[in-house]
Amino acid sequence: MNSRTFELTNPATGVKSALPVRSGSIGPDVLDIAGIARDHNVFTFDPAFGVTASCESKITYIDGDEGVLLYRGYPVEQLATKSSFMEVAYLLLYGELPSTTELQTFNSNITRHTMINESLLRFFNGFHHNAHPMAMVSAVVASMSAFYHDSMDIHNPRHREIFSHRIIAKLPTIAAAAHKHSLGQPFVYPRNDLDYCSNMLSMFFAVPCEPYRVDPVAAQALDLLFILHADHEQNASTSTVRLAASTGTNPYAAISAGVSALWGPAHGGANEAVLAMLEQIGSVDNIPKYLAMAKDKSSHFKLMGFGHRVYKNFDPRAKIIREMCHKVLAKLGRTDNPLFELALRLEEIALKDEYFVSRKLYPNVDFYSGIIYSALNIPRSMFTVMFAIARTVGWVSHWLELIGDPGMRISRPRQLYTGAARRDYSEMAQRR
Ligand code: ACO
Repeated sequence: MNSRTFELTNPATGVKSALPVRSGSIGPDVLDIAGIARDHNVFTFDPAFGVTASCESKITYIDGDEGVLLYRGYPVEQLATKSSFMEVAYLLLYGELPSTTELQTFNSNITRHTMINESLLRFFNGFHHNAHPMAMVSAVVASMSAFYHDSMDIHNPRHREIFSHRIIAKLPTIAAAAHKHSLGQPFVYPRNDLDYCSNMLSMFFAVPCEPYRVDPVAAQALDLLFILHADHEQNASTSTVRLAASTGTNPYAAISAGVSALWGPAHGGANEAVLAMLEQIGSVDNIPKYLAMAKDKSSHFKLMGFGHRVYKNFDPRAKIIREMCHKVLAKLGRTDNPLFELALRLEEIALKDEYFVSRKLYPNVDFYSGIIYSALNIPRSMFTVMFAIARTVGWVSHWLELIGDPGMRISRPRQLYTGAARRDYSEMAQRR
């Protein structure tokens, strides 16, 4: 708590109230406005939550001006170089880095939950072959609630833990099933002798008629991308999960809501849109034309993978991924990658352009991630699914924090009503 207050005077009534200022461990203070409806009969108006802290959280911290991202206090750059996705998952879920034994136990818990019920597998046959994988993933995740009645008491900490392990373990299996369905290939069962990302690659790319060897370079690249996408405080999809979960709905329904929110091109769908945009631009010569379109408000064209609500300096994840692109493409022997070259030039030119400079628009996490996914042979329609797999860890961590909070209430924003005032029903004959 902070001893500072802001004084608010209602000009109509002269009533004064002191609004408390609350301080976090780091970052800007927040003004606690919970009492203003009671004291002044007004609500606050903040469309798109530009300046609203919707909750208190101990999981992830972002400093948008300095380009800082911390998971449970640890800088993402350190985790990216020293850690693994499973270790980061443990950190986000439980709050501390695991000991060797804790990590082994966690790994083994996740590994033991990788299979999905055979009936759930049959759901995929109900989808058209060209269904978008995000449609399949959100539907199948929501459907999981029909399979685990015995462990869905959200007030039971053990049930919550089992759910956490299940959803993190099964998301790659569901994603791979969606991918295989779109190819018309048989589903490949998980392999519990492989680590999380190697198993995912195996389920994606193995076929029953020949042996498959996971490329460790690909598995490592995926692991790093997953670390960078694991959590990002109260972003749109995480806020969606929290809002849905605040109703007490089952956690599979809440995570499915998060998957749907992530799908949009302003959020996780941007990675797919970036590649489409780069292909559309086609060559360096066309960059000025497309930059002009991005600046023209009537064109509806945006530079995908550019801009962020919070980062106004640079996105630290984009920096790491750009570096990683060079390394991964070199290791995979794909240095001649025209789309990567085009992306580098586009970034360079945009960052010298007054429009982007003045609005502090920088490449975000998704500007370069699609180039790596493509190099790993992951199809473009699966990019946002990859993001969803990683972000599931963040969603679950926030869900656990929310449900574990004794003060949890249903989230229910208010509105500024600008529709018709009260009026009487008019008979059909009297209407124009
Ligand atoms: N291309 C062109 N102009 C842009 C872009 C862009 N990518 N992003 C923002 N702007 C402009 C806006 O038009 C606005 O201009 P104005 O002040 O003249 O009206 C100004 O920059 C501020 O942008 P807002 O839209 O107000 O910023 P907001 O915080 O609401 O949106 C967002 C952030 C959604 C990320 C936006 O920058 C965007 O649409 N980017 C492209 C999509 C994208 O890459 N999304 C991924 C985000 S990261 C993630 O979720 C994983």
